[in-house]
Amino acid sequence: MNSTSDAATHDIAVADTVAELRRRVASWRGASEIVALVPTMGALHAGHLALVSRARTVAHRVVASVFVNPTQFGPGEDLSRYPRDPAGDRRKLAEAGCDLVFMPTVAEMYPDGFAVRVDPGPLAETLEGRSRPGHFAGVATVVAKLLLQAAPDVAVFGEKDYQQLLVIRRIARDLDIPVRIEGVATVREGDGLALSSRNAYLTPDERARAPMLHRTLREVARRVRGGDDTASAWGLRTLLDAGFAKVDYLEVRDAETLEPPRPGAPARVLAAAWLGRTRLIDNIALVP
Ligand code: PAJ
Repeated sequence: MNSTSDAATHDIAVADTVAELRRRVASWRGASEIVALVPTMGALHAGHLALVSRARTVAHRVVASVFVNPTQFGPGEDLSRYPRDPAGDRRKLAEAGCDLVFMPTVAEMYPDGFAVRVDPGPLAETLEGRSRPGHFAGVATVVAKLLLQAAPDVAVFGEKDYQQLLVIRRIARDLDIPVRIEGVATVREGDGLALSSRNAYLTPDERARAPMLHRTLREVARRVRGGDDTASAWGLRTLLDAGFAKVDYLEVRDAETLEPPRPGAPARVLAAAWLGRTRLIDNIALVP
């Protein structure tokens, strides 16, 4: 490969150590620039890039991190086959106007002897936390580290992972990490399927069925608004009938606490369901 054309296609600065990340961010801070962080696990798509766009509107400088975090995957989950495309990620981030990508190794993030785990508390025990024990402790630990490493003014996350967004807000608040957490609406395909790196696992037949997840959430929300208290059970049956192998949960919850919904308060319809070997999650707002 010719290094000149390589530089042209990947025209973005890369930091692979915490020291380099800190050095770069410090130079911007010295110039009184506002810094935003967009944490990702790579295999970037238009959903991730929407976070970068939002970050650009609220900060002078945008750092994205690309790190497939092993501590948030359970045994038997898809860590080893998780899609990876570092060259494509650098190109997309450069085109999206990102200033720096932090791509640490596992050893840089979790050196020998690493022992601390951040426990996010009750918010992490329901829904995703029940299906994926330990998942949110892994997310909380790596996000706390990223926030302390990059020390951004703002960090941007997607509503696609709604419970994750709430967990991260709680961590920043409870650990007094001085950062504003921004949420961005879910980016979808034309047929309603939420963009996800894991959509790459779907066979053509599964891909054709996948939009039923979003369609069902919308119909559940419509039924709940109409006063139907059997809507979640209806939604669960509908997904199974549509060819989803298993539904981990389909629930209506309070939009802030994830506890059972309170009459008149904003709620969220959230679901996780399997198409073959692929686990899809989605959620939508339910405004009373
Ligand atoms: P990842 O799944 O790569 O997602 C990175 C960010 O992109 C998350 O904030 C996620 O909610 C957001 N995102 C993904 N798909 C989206 C879509 N269709 N529309 C809008 N936003 C979307 O979430 C993680 O990585 C990790 O858990 C991480 C926070 C990086 C910690 O390891």
